Amino acid sequence: MPTQNSQHPSLVVFDHPLIRAKVTALRDRETGHRAFRALMSQIAGLMVYEVTRSFTTDSITVQTPLEPFDGDHLSQRITVVPILRAGIGMTEGVLELMPEARVGHLGMARDEATLEPRAYLNKLPPDLGAGPVILIDPMLATGGSAVAAATMLRDAGAKDLRMICLVASPEGVQRMAKAHPTMPVYTAALDRELDERGYILPGLGDAGDRLFGTH
Ligand code: PRP
Ligand code: URA
Repeated sequence: MPTQNSQHPSLVVFDHPLIRAKVTALRDRETGHRAFRALMSQIAGLMVYEVTRSFTTDSITVQTPLEPFDGDHLSQRITVVPILRAGIGMTEGVLELMPEARVGHLGMARDEATLEPRAYLNKLPPDLGAGPVILIDPMLATGGSAVAAATMLRDAGAKDLRMICLVASPEGVQRMAKAHPTMPVYTAALDRELDERGYILPGLGDAGDRLFGTH
């Protein structure tokens, strides 16, 4: 079961053996971009089960081969929003389980000197308030990118907003909690700290570069 963190009430940290083992393989510097891509997508898929727990359903009747069955279907329009580039790596795993979801894109690049994010793309569906929105970025480091992305989504009308990431730092979690206190953040791992370049320790390095083989 994922655990609620007493210091960060909106943070949920996963503690599933499959997720822990896959995150360890992601961290391993010997893991190449092909395996890295597959692992990232698989972990995101495993997390979706918990992240979507509060989604609402409507009744629907289907015919089994034997008789009618009163069942459920998802009642709201779901939107997933990866932060480019690295968020793309988790999106596929989410869409495999929720193929009906729409996909918005936010492009953010972190300035390596100031560590502040620069937005370069904003492509979102117009009616974001029509249902839950899942912001996706594997790394919550200083929190600058995630805070800016969540603000863009709120400004665009998102009401029911949550974020999934793979590795979070205490600094990033705190910054998110301050800027967006009611927004749940789900992470596969909560790491120790940031280094002087804003990288998460122990972390997994540069997620975008490892995902796309650009290092
Ligand atoms: C990485 C990562 C996050 C951001 C996290 O992206 O994917 O978006 O850094 O850092 P922060 O919490 O300090 O803002 P990056 O800007 O390196 O772009 P990329 O995904 O294109 O490599
Ligand atoms: N972005 C990454 O990809 N990795 C980090 O550790 C921090 C920011």
